[in-house]
Parts: sequence; C-alpha cells; structure tokens
Amino acid sequence: MTQAPDFAQRVLAWFARHGRKTLPWQQEPTPYRVWISEIMLQQTQVATVIPYYQRFMARFPSLADLAEAPEDEVLALWSGLGYYSRARNLHAAAKRVMHEHGGKFPAELDEIAELPGIGPSTAGAIRSLGHQLRGVILDGNVKRVLARHGAVAGWPGETAVLKRLWELAEAYTPERDFGPYTQAMMDLGALICTRNQPRCDDCPVAADCAARLADAQGRYPGRKPAKPVPEREVQMLIIQDSQGAVLLQKRPPTGIWGGLWSLPECPAGSDGVAWAEDELGLKTRERGTLPAFSHTFSHFRLLITPQRLSLSGASALAEGEWRFYARQELAAIGLPAPIAKLLDSPGPAA
Ligand code: ADE
Repeated sequence: MTQAPDFAQRVLAWFARHGRKTLPWQQEPTPYRVWISEIMLQQTQVATVIPYYQRFMARFPSLADLAEAPEDEVLALWSGLGYYSRARNLHAAAKRVMHEHGGKFPAELDEIAELPGIGPSTAGAIRSLGHQLRGVILDGNVKRVLARHGAVAGWPGETAVLKRLWELAEAYTPERDFGPYTQAMMDLGALICTRNQPRCDDCPVAADCAARLADAQGRYPGRKPAKPVPEREVQMLIIQDSQGAVLLQKRPPTGIWGGLWSLPECPAGSDGVAWAEDELGLKTRERGTLPAFSHTFSHFRLLITPQRLSLSGASALAEGEWRFYARQELAAIGLPAPIAKLLDSPGPAA
C-alpha cells in the first residue's frame, strides 16, 4: 500500500502549533472522562457539549457515581442533547464496568468496544486519549481527511471503502504520541479539512493530498448512492371533440394531483380507442402518439405516453367528474403543471 511519508510527523507538528488543547475533556484525561466526552460528541457539536459535559462531571465525577445513579437522573442531565439511547447506553456500560471489570475502565480494544454504545473508533479514541495507549480512530471527520488525502473513492458505508480507510488510519497512526495524534486528526477534520471549502492552504498534509492535487476535494468521501426511484408508466388520452375541446377528469381528492383536472388515464400500451369505448362509451379515432415524457413525484417517476384521439360521435359525458374544456378555458381550472404544459404545446390543440 502506498503511504505518504512523514504523515504523522506533519500532523503532529501542525497540532503543536494549531491544535485544540484547552477543551474540558483534555484536562485530566482519564478513560472515564474521555469516554463521556466522546459519547456526547458523537452527534453534538463541541460548543453545545461543553456545558453539558461540565454539569455531568460535576454530578458524576467518577464512573462509580454514574453507575450508582438512578437512570432518570442520568437522562435528566442529558436532556437537550438528544439521542437518549446514548445516555441509557452510558449508564448500562458504567454498571457493566463496575460488575465485570471491578470498576476499572478496560484498556483492551475488544473489551472497550464490547461496551454498549461504543464502536471501534470511539474505542480507539478512549485508548489513545484516555489510556495513553495506541488506539486508531476513524470517525466521520477522519474519514473525510483520509478519503481526500488518499483519493479513496466510494461511499464509506461500503465495506471495501471502509476497510481501505481503516488500513490508512492504522498505517498513519504513529507508535508514540497517540493522544496528540488522535486529537490532531479530529482537529484537522473539524477545523481544516471541512466538508465545504476546506482550508487547504493551512493543511499540513496538503502537499501530497491526492484530492487537492486533482482539485477534487468535493468528490471525497463519496456520497451514499441515491436509491433508485421507482418508475410507473401510464398512457394519457387527449380526446378532442370537433371544436378542439379536450376531455378532462376531475381527480379524486386524495392521491397524486388530488382534486385537479387531468387527462383520462389507461394502462401503458393500451389501445386507447378500445379503452375510450369500453370505459367511457366514446367513439373515437386514433390520431397518433406524442413523445413520452416523465414527471417526478416525491416517491416515484411517472412515465407518461400521451395518445391523441378525436371524438367521432357525440359524448354523453357532460356531467360531474368528466367535462370537455375548450382551450381558452384551461387557464381558469386547476391542471397539474405537466398536463397544462402538454396541452399548451402546439400539437394537441391543433
Ligand atoms: N469530536 C470527537 N472527539 C472530539 C475531541 N476529543 N475533541 C473535539 N472534538 C471531538
């Protein structure tokens, strides 16, 4: 695997000058204190976390205090931070550490990661920041730094992409200075290698950042692939009488285009003439098919094939939900935009 030389040294030198060193959890960084901060910081920004963290530590200065507290009190101190499963997991994990580890926060990676609410990256952060042991992190910020620096294409939710990012994270983590390096990578992601408008001029690893060299920072990390939009097909009939008036149907009040006047619809590929006769009792002649077009709704795409028919006899459909409208009347009634556009085009009204 190709590896950038001196990656960690450059990051550490940058951290010494520009990194954050006065955050409350960086003072007396015990595994317990680091753990609480990492859980709070999982879905919440630093500035919001700070007062919560201070109140939490004042009330539960040690893991034993947390384990002994009633759950309601833990949840009350969490109130406002959201994602309350984090607080319940914290409380459960504190009890487990009391019972299974004699009250001492475990130091082995797999033992840490087995505790409720702690994933592999948080476990790495607790090891390096809290235990001062070698621990590798790969949180959202670090994924962005490494994906850009190594031009790792693809969405990190995919196993292969994630595996590659972990390999890089592992390879760059130095054999000493774990704590500063871990905090430095977090800071680099949060302060320099931001999602939008990264400050590459201030980045210690910009010189060999593949994304920057290709001016493609915005492409990394790759986004989650959009779910394919389901597609439905329908045929719409433009049935015109001898004056050129068009038959419209008022749609039911609920569902798409609820309450709007629209064209009669039949299954895609139908014989429109037969359908008009069977369903509407109308005698018509086929006048050709117009180009199909699609309209996108919030949950699906509708592929519409318009077919033109002309009424050859009289229509008994003059009431209720069915009506022939002259072209000049269309502006005054509610039509779905794509239908209004279709009827406005020169073809149908000709
Ligand atoms: N986000 C997650 N961990 C953090 C830390 N230790 N400092 C600042 N932001 C963080």
